[in-house]
Amino acid sequence: MAERAEVVFVDGVRTPFGRAGEKGMYWQTRADDLVVKAIIGLLERNPGVPKDRIDDVAIAATTQTGDQGLTLGRTAALLAGLPQSVPGYAIDRMCAGAMTSVTTTAGAIAFGAYDLAIAGGVEHMGRHPMGFGVDPNPRFLAEKLVSAEALNMGNTAERIHDRFPHLTKERADRFALGSQRKTAEAYKNGKIQPDLIPVATRSATGWGLATADEAPRPETTMEGLAGLRTPFRPHGRVTAGNSSGLNDGATASLLASADAAKEFGLSTKMRLVSFAFAGVEPEIMGIGPVPSTEKALRKAGLSIGDIGLFELNEAFAIQVLSLLDHFGIDDEDPRVNIWGGAIAVGHPLASSGVRLMIQLARQFEEHPEVRYGLTAMCIGLGQGGSVIWENPHFTGKRKK
Ligand SMILES: CC(C)(COP(=O)(O)OP(=O)(O)OC[C@H]1O[C@@H](n2cnc3c(N)ncnc32)[C@H](O)[C@@H]1OP(=O)(O)O)[C@@H](O)C(=O)NCCC(=O)NCCS
Repeated sequence: MAERAEVVFVDGVRTPFGRAGEKGMYWQTRADDLVVKAIIGLLERNPGVPKDRIDDVAIAATTQTGDQGLTLGRTAALLAGLPQSVPGYAIDRMCAGAMTSVTTTAGAIAFGAYDLAIAGGVEHMGRHPMGFGVDPNPRFLAEKLVSAEALNMGNTAERIHDRFPHLTKERADRFALGSQRKTAEAYKNGKIQPDLIPVATRSATGWGLATADEAPRPETTMEGLAGLRTPFRPHGRVTAGNSSGLNDGATASLLASADAAKEFGLSTKMRLVSFAFAGVEPEIMGIGPVPSTEKALRKAGLSIGDIGLFELNEAFAIQVLSLLDHFGIDDEDPRVNIWGGAIAVGHPLASSGVRLMIQLARQFEEHPEVRYGLTAMCIGLGQGGSVIWENPHFTGKRKK
């Protein structure tokens, strides 16, 4: 039997995220080209990786048809110029697709089956609108396995507001405003740009180059947020301002066994500690990261107080607030989403898990006083996913 190997996050990159739809910067760009671009960018900045030693390429997408079909990991590997001997496959766990690409290949590394793996995800929500072409089994509704509302993510967010009335719309809007402000600040200080791979774009006016996220609204104000429509329910609380939007984008990361990273002279940006997924009532899917985080902490022998940095996917502000509230963390805790999150930069579903990891890895470098960090997200139909990472730069002391 092979011994369990230590798994390290060597590096991660992403494309800038676009706004979905005809006016978005990727309207005329194929989904697979986005993830291919991310993989090429990842390998270019890690020249020590022997391409023929990559054991697998796992790429996630929620809608796996058309330019997101045909076993994405394999097609993306071939298109990115990897040798034919490198295999690949596709993954789907809706919003946690890329997170599951990471945990699945990490499991293979830990088992000793793989030394090196590429894991990521893509979602072109313009070309593949959410829920398009789905055919839920009639038993779901006939047997009341889930209510119709559980199939619409915005409705599930309204239901969290119902469940926790003290988590008001005002608190959700304030959290959303914070996300926009922190992202604007992070862009100003050049925190986000180093991990973006520029993408050539095509539009009616000719060629362009995407070098930054398209969705952030730095001009956001509390008054502006207060006046927005509530599209999921009359007099509801969930708006376009306190939700993530509809976006296009791709992510790619490189994972390795600690031995392989050493052998090939690769960086170690994070060490994997534990991960867990958990199911909850589909009607309030956004609370999924609560039990998955508790499970991941338990498996690691840690408590929430050991986590020094949080990268939580902001599918909806209310859904992040429900996790913070559960663990007794303040809405504006400085350890949480310090460069903002999906409410500002966007959430191209199956790609987002690796975006959280990319940002946590950068923050680890800046915070040697922090030993452990958490990446967590909610998942459609009532799930949560959490991954706990250890900071290889940990010294116990703040950077001077
Ligand atoms: C909420 C949602 C329906 C809004 O979609 P949309 O109407 O296309 O969103 P838009 O970007 O056009 O915004 C709607 C309006 O709000 C305004 N707006 C959005 N964010 C704003 C902000 N931060 N400040 C001020 N105004 C804002 C827009 O300008 C627009 O105004 P207009 O109608 O006058 O043009 C959509 O983003 C959505 O479904 N989000 C959730 C995605 C999801 O479920 N993901 C999976 C999670 S599990």
